[in-house]
Amino acid sequence: MSHTPAPHLLPLIGGSAAPAQHPLDPLTGAEIDRAREILVDAGLLGDSVRVPMLLPDEPTKTELADWQPGTAIDRRIDATLMDTATGKVIEAIVSVTHGEVVSQREHDPAIAPYGQPQYLFEEYDRAAEIVKSSPEWRAAMVRRGLEDRIDLAFCSPLAPGFVGRENEVGRRVIRSLTFLRDSEDDIPWAHPVEGLIVHIDLITNEVLGVEDEGDVSVPGGSGRYTSEAVGPARESLKPIEIVQPEGPSFHVDGSHVQWENWSLRIGFNAREGLVLNDVRFDDRPVLARASVPEMVVPYGDTSPTRFWISYFDAGEYLLGKNANALELGCDCLGVIKYFDAHVADDRGHAVRVPNVVCMHEEDYGVLWKHTEQGPVGAQVRRSRRLVVSYFATVGNYDYGFYWYFYLDGSIQMEAKATGIVFVGAGEPGSKSPHANEIAPGVFAPVHQHLFCARLDVAIDGEDNRLVEVDAVRIPMGEQNPFGNAFTWSQTALATEKQAQRVADTSVARTWEVQSASRTNITGAPTAYHLYPQPTALLMADPASSVAARAAFATKHLWATAYEPGQLWPGGRYPNAHQGGSGLPEYSAGDRPIDGEDLVLWHTFGLTHIPRTEDWPIMPVDYAGFWFKPYGFLDVNPAMDVPESSQAHAGAGRDGCCGGGDACACAH
Ligand code: NI
Repeated sequence: MSHTPAPHLLPLIGGSAAPAQHPLDPLTGAEIDRAREILVDAGLLGDSVRVPMLLPDEPTKTELADWQPGTAIDRRIDATLMDTATGKVIEAIVSVTHGEVVSQREHDPAIAPYGQPQYLFEEYDRAAEIVKSSPEWRAAMVRRGLEDRIDLAFCSPLAPGFVGRENEVGRRVIRSLTFLRDSEDDIPWAHPVEGLIVHIDLITNEVLGVEDEGDVSVPGGSGRYTSEAVGPARESLKPIEIVQPEGPSFHVDGSHVQWENWSLRIGFNAREGLVLNDVRFDDRPVLARASVPEMVVPYGDTSPTRFWISYFDAGEYLLGKNANALELGCDCLGVIKYFDAHVADDRGHAVRVPNVVCMHEEDYGVLWKHTEQGPVGAQVRRSRRLVVSYFATVGNYDYGFYWYFYLDGSIQMEAKATGIVFVGAGEPGSKSPHANEIAPGVFAPVHQHLFCARLDVAIDGEDNRLVEVDAVRIPMGEQNPFGNAFTWSQTALATEKQAQRVADTSVARTWEVQSASRTNITGAPTAYHLYPQPTALLMADPASSVAARAAFATKHLWATAYEPGQLWPGGRYPNAHQGGSGLPEYSAGDRPIDGEDLVLWHTFGLTHIPRTEDWPIMPVDYAGFWFKPYGFLDVNPAMDVPESSQAHAGAGRDGCCGGGDACACAH
């Protein structure tokens, strides 16, 4: 469905993948492989060195503004290199275009404030081997009567949080919890071995300690969820088919997408996953860049097995590296355009992730409607949205990241959480203040999924200002003689510290991003509103270590002055970090943001007190926000949407509400 790509504007770098044509295009496989060669030639990537993270080093806004189509692009890569023999970490910037290492610096994970690079896939296997060869772990399994379950045991490798244990400081630690499987194809998550925790150093490959607490039985119920396991599928659902006989309404040229009034560029990297660049409505800038660069999943359980759990799925595990190749199964209906992406494997070789980003159009019910007495009668138009999405699987959980663009100028971000809830074992029928029994003997601890979106806003350009808008009640009296009156307040958030805000649904709080220079038909600044949706902030105590590490999750809103490289709400290496990195660091200078190039950071998410219906697989739960034009457009921009026709509908239906025994119109 894509247009024919423009002729190659740049010399091929090597390999068969198409070269980048725009500075914001995602990394190609050839670029990643070339970067690896350059690093090897520079002596930085020897046998024991691995690549925990490899990302595009994106062009600065000045470079972008200066770039002309058809001219050369300096394509740079930011590679984190870790020597698995010593733990030594080098961060290198490589110019693929110029074939050189541009800069390098050492990051010493042993020097405060610490912070370990992202986990390698090979470390998960290594951790399991270390556990299974540990005499203490084997003794604990034998003591529990599980000696014949050792071979099929699943040793889940988990980020350790930051608990300040002296024997862990500066070390590359992973913790392992044990789950049992009945067979190779069994689902381990249903059979937790409660209270058995192994602490591992991944550089020295030694067990730092084994905790063996309590003797709760392993739950025996099945966690299987395939059709074979759950029994015959129901036959009552009739097919729904989405037909687009004339094809989709979008046009694709490389990474550039045009759909109705919208245009944007699709980006993707190993850490953030999907990135949207240069989002415009009617060719007017709205967002320079948008992504969800971090999320944290803190657990609210005091047990030794889980009190430390606070996964950073982007910063510790890399969402993009764990993204699903949707050729294996896609959830989208209709005419779909897929985008591939490339990430680096543990050794820095390019890996193609086919069909990682899914784009399609969806009917979305009524866009606008009115029924007028008299000759005008009923007028209705149908809403449609462009959906750009990807899914990542991190261990037991699956996360979908969906961006929706609407005909009325609105943007919606929706995160979808599904997969298998993380559980422990308990005495059936017992009560815990921190975990709910969701199947016999299966206890799911309370936890949160707190996402942080980064919105590099650009409302009609980069000179923007931020205003908090609240509905305001007026006491009965001279200003409100009948008691009915209310108004609204507009409070400028002029510095980075003023802009650290908490949402308040009781006053319909929104955050307005205004152009500092352009006005609309009424003379007001053109603007967009960020509409937060009701969501709890971090429930952990402000004095906890997770509150320091996930400071971003203690406010719904942050805003910072744009600075290249400030991309990560929890810092570059949240793993084993003592806290204070990311947003607290970025905003420490309390820079002025009024009329500046502004970046918004929005925390949203889910607080889960799990239920029986979440077992064995959790139905999708949703969290997100809206970003809607507010005086950006002089009139409803979707007045010219044509009346819909059901002419293409099958089964002999003769048009919307045109007859028949069932009305298929826009209600
Ligand atoms: Ni959950």
